Amino acid sequence: MSENTQGFNTRAVHAGQAFEPRTGAVVPPLHFSSTYAQDGIGNLRAGYEYGRGGNPTRDALQEQLAAVENGTHAYSFSSGLAAEDSLIRALAEPGDHIVLGNDAYGGTYRLISKVLGGWGIGNTPVDMSDHAALKAAIAANKTRLVWVETPSNPMMRITDIAAVAAIAHEAGALLVVDNTFASPALQRPLDLGADVVVHSTTKYIGGHSDVVGGAIVVKDPVLAEAIGFIQFAVGAVSGPMDAFLTTRGLKTLGVRMRTHSENAMAVASWLAQRPEVEAVHYPGLESHPEHELAKKQMSGFGGMVSVQFAGGEDAARIVAEATRVFTLAESLGGIESLMNYPSEMTHASVKGTELAVPVNLLRLSVGIEDIADLIADLEQAFAKL
Ligand SMILES: Cc1ncc(COP(=O)(O)O)c(C=O)c1O
Repeated sequence: MSENTQGFNTRAVHAGQAFEPRTGAVVPPLHFSSTYAQDGIGNLRAGYEYGRGGNPTRDALQEQLAAVENGTHAYSFSSGLAAEDSLIRALAEPGDHIVLGNDAYGGTYRLISKVLGGWGIGNTPVDMSDHAALKAAIAANKTRLVWVETPSNPMMRITDIAAVAAIAHEAGALLVVDNTFASPALQRPLDLGADVVVHSTTKYIGGHSDVVGGAIVVKDPVLAEAIGFIQFAVGAVSGPMDAFLTTRGLKTLGVRMRTHSENAMAVASWLAQRPEVEAVHYPGLESHPEHELAKKQMSGFGGMVSVQFAGGEDAARIVAEATRVFTLAESLGGIESLMNYPSEMTHASVKGTELAVPVNLLRLSVGIEDIADLIADLEQAFAKL
């Protein structure tokens, strides 16, 4: 069976992970060396010259990432935002323009508006479900990239990747999909028409809240060359230990996402019948406005749930500070359940902008603990209201 006909979990476990030929060690060794001996000037062994340009542990992760996203090339970075920065600098230049979802992750918007804006790259946030607004924003500008996050952080909106890819391509723009929330276990944007997938591997791919990283995956050799050059020339690469931890996490992504999805569905259903709750945002609920679209383009609904409280900001704050199994912390996608108050935590940087998050909203990253314990924890926290 050739590699690309193998199932998702087989690729996650084996791609880039061949045993070490000298000893037979089943887990490939971790290479810390920053430089490589040359047999003569420029006469390299297996192409390795210097650690910024190439490292076998990073290469193993990159091969694994490309395989699970059905791409041909992947690039691993020191954080999700480092990946995004390198991606935009590789594919856009001053004078270009980005159309992004108006509910993109706050840090992405901060990078695009406050850092790359000063470098001469314009941006327009739009509602990605409003295709007329998307087309108008592209037509009015020199748009190079359309940037979609689906499900979005933290509003859990779903964007139709195939439809937006067609709109972007008609205008000569590229479609980038931030696949952090779904992970490649549940959604593969390159198969749906996207040109580039970007990840915060800090989240579900790493999966254990013990490593920060980012990745870019493509299937076009021209894009691959441009991104590979920036990875090497700018150097925001993942270190060997980070690459190793990310590889180890990615091997179990499929089984973890199944339990995250089951637990999140149970938590969302429990929240939906509580009188203290004004709205639950989870694409697995039939009440979610894009539930049918999520069913079509995802193979599961993931572990992220957002909830808005009828009692406003005060109620959200009380629950956020009252849980015991859910830990109050930023980030998401680890095996342990986390509780986040986005308007003051992960999304504080977009306060006062059109990307601002409602103050009565909590974002739950539902972990893989026993569901009875998670519900009991929410019950005791709700009792404080
Ligand atoms: C959807 C999404 N994209 C990108 C990022 C940025 O990733 P990192 O924190 O690894 O730089 C985050 C971080 O929270 C995120 O949630």
